[in-house]
Amino acid sequence: MTQTQRFDQEAATWDENPRRVRLAKEVAETIARRLPLARNLKVLDFGCGTGLLTLNLQPLVGTITGADTSEGMLNVLRQKVRGQSLTNVDAFQLKPDNDYAIEGTYDLIVSSMTLHHVQDLAPLFRRFRDHLRDHGWVALADLDTEDGTFHQDNHDVFHLGFERSAFKAQLQDAGFTSLTEETAFENRRNGRDYPVFLITGRKQAH
Ligand SMILES: C[S@@+](CC[C@H](N)C(=O)[O-])C[C@H]1O[C@@H](n2cnc3c(N)ncnc32)[C@H](O)[C@@H]1O
Repeated sequence: MTQTQRFDQEAATWDENPRRVRLAKEVAETIARRLPLARNLKVLDFGCGTGLLTLNLQPLVGTITGADTSEGMLNVLRQKVRGQSLTNVDAFQLKPDNDYAIEGTYDLIVSSMTLHHVQDLAPLFRRFRDHLRDHGWVALADLDTEDGTFHQDNHDVFHLGFERSAFKAQLQDAGFTSLTEETAFENRRNGRDYPVFLITGRKQAH
């Protein structure tokens, strides 16, 4: 089974895990404290899943677009958007075979718990830069380096979390400045800690 098929299968029950719901809420709250969110901002949530982060940010921004490789995840998000009659949320599928082409230009690109599933971050960070307006932001949440016990099966996990300094260096290489880092979620499970960081950065003007 491919990674995308696995996420397709998990989509229907994804939101039943209260830890995931809490994590997304706390990441959204940390983004809102860290960045000047406003009702005129155009936002992309990369690897949006069922939209847990997307829908927490939706009332605080102008429009928010979810992008994900899993059509199953996107369908759950679309059902929620219809159910809540939201008019400022849309979604599109990312295709691994076209190098995760992103559509549109944004003021802010967010992502939570997705980047450890992406093999090579350098081209993706350059893509984020190319799809941001000048001085636009990224706000990226993921695991600090972990010992391989976070997932039950690591075969489609490309990074066992990240060293914050190396992650920030890759953003800097892609043209982001004003980098900040903080812990967005204290994640304790089975007697172990899996903290989640939020790193923000700003696109340098040309
Ligand atoms: C752990 S889930 C996180 C979902 C959501 N951000 C959340 O916090 O609930 C990872 C998501 O990333 C998506 N994904 C995995 N690899 C991806 C890639 N290379 N590009 C975009 N999305 C990807 C998966 O389909 C899945 O929905």
